[in-house]
Amino acid sequence: MAINSKLPVGILGATGMVGQRFIQLLENHPWFEVAWLAASDRSSGKTYGEAAKWRLEFPLPERIAQMTVRPNEPTGAPKIIFASVDAPIAREAEPAFAAAGCAVISNSSAFRMAANVPLVLPEVNADHLHLIEEQSWRKEAGGYIVTNSNCTAMGPVLALKPLDDLFGVEQIFATSMQAISGAGYPGVPSMDILDNVIPYIGGEEEKMEAETLKLLGKLEGNVVKPLGARMSASCNRVAVVDGHTVSISIKLGKPATKEEILAAWAGFKPLAGKDLPSAPAQPVEYATQDDRPQPRLDRNRGNGMAATVGRLRPCNVLDWKFTVLSHNTVRGAAGAAILNAELLASLGKLEPVAETAAHA
Ligand SMILES: NC(=O)c1ccc[n+]([C@@H]2O[C@H](COP(=O)([O-])OP(=O)(O)OC[C@H]3O[C@@H](n4cnc5c(N)ncnc54)[C@H](OP(=O)(O)O)[C@@H]3O)[C@@H](O)[C@H]2O)c1
Repeated sequence: MAINSKLPVGILGATGMVGQRFIQLLENHPWFEVAWLAASDRSSGKTYGEAAKWRLEFPLPERIAQMTVRPNEPTGAPKIIFASVDAPIAREAEPAFAAAGCAVISNSSAFRMAANVPLVLPEVNADHLHLIEEQSWRKEAGGYIVTNSNCTAMGPVLALKPLDDLFGVEQIFATSMQAISGAGYPGVPSMDILDNVIPYIGGEEEKMEAETLKLLGKLEGNVVKPLGARMSASCNRVAVVDGHTVSISIKLGKPATKEEILAAWAGFKPLAGKDLPSAPAQPVEYATQDDRPQPRLDRNRGNGMAATVGRLRPCNVLDWKFTVLSHNTVRGAAGAAILNAELLASLGKLEPVAETAAHA
């Protein structure tokens, strides 16, 4: 694909935890350039440097710090929008941007389970993008909504996909240990999380179960048929800043040896040769050490885009068990959305909206 000049993109929810990751990951991106930032009325009209409580180790780029934060409205916005606002806000805002002809690439849960909205992880179900053609915004104005999954589902789904392809996955038991950045900023109060584990994250278990099965589902015509596996998720908040860890047990449709499972992960490179800038060369990395993966040591593998799997061993109840770690605001949010946008660009699905932008 030839992209001669960078496509202007906007970030809705730019001041939040995921918005900040967007800014980090889009700085020097070869295809996209941040041209517009928006957040709530509290931030609108201020410079980004004034409005955002910058929380990343990566320094805030001076050009971005000087940009004015815009209101949450499509007027004057670029035609490619990365959205990272909470679901109640997304429910109103994302359709308004799509109706205005924008490609909305969303992190929110608001539309993930809608029948005509693709929930996509490029390595897993790129073909589900076809669903955008079913959206009325696309037919009427060129715009559409594409979503990525809940940050906790993303790592496990990457690990499960090659196993499902080769052996079939019939049952999944998953217990998460989720980082505090997953709750946004300022998120969980320090008095609640230090020296503690919180065994409840509202709505998270239901999202993890439903989204995992939709991501691993099959597109049949214009409908996604979810994977027919049974899944039980338990979600916990732990005192980690970034990186969600999930312990998983699975029952397979046919027997697999340890060597076959390791080979399935090692050979899982569905985006090889597509030259998507954010795609990790090895989406599922296996850590051989007994005490890995660990958030602090493994979350930045593949520039934060790889899922690290370890501790593959037989399960006395189901067939196999293992541990998966992924970076929740990179692979689980901003990085996933940027990879979705790169996939859309490579398929020519950003072209109409980009052309509209160029002629606006
Ligand atoms: N954190 C993660 O690991 C993660 C992973 C996957 C998905 N997500 C999803 O991504 C979304 C954002 O999460 P986050 O962690 O970045 O949350 P956050 O840190 O709380 O940030 C929320 C953002 O939304 C903006 N906002 C609030 N009200 C608004 C309004 N009425 N109009 C426009 N913008 C408004 C905020 O702007 P102000 O600064 O002006 O208030 C801020 O920029 C959520 O849907 C979340 O579920 C998060």
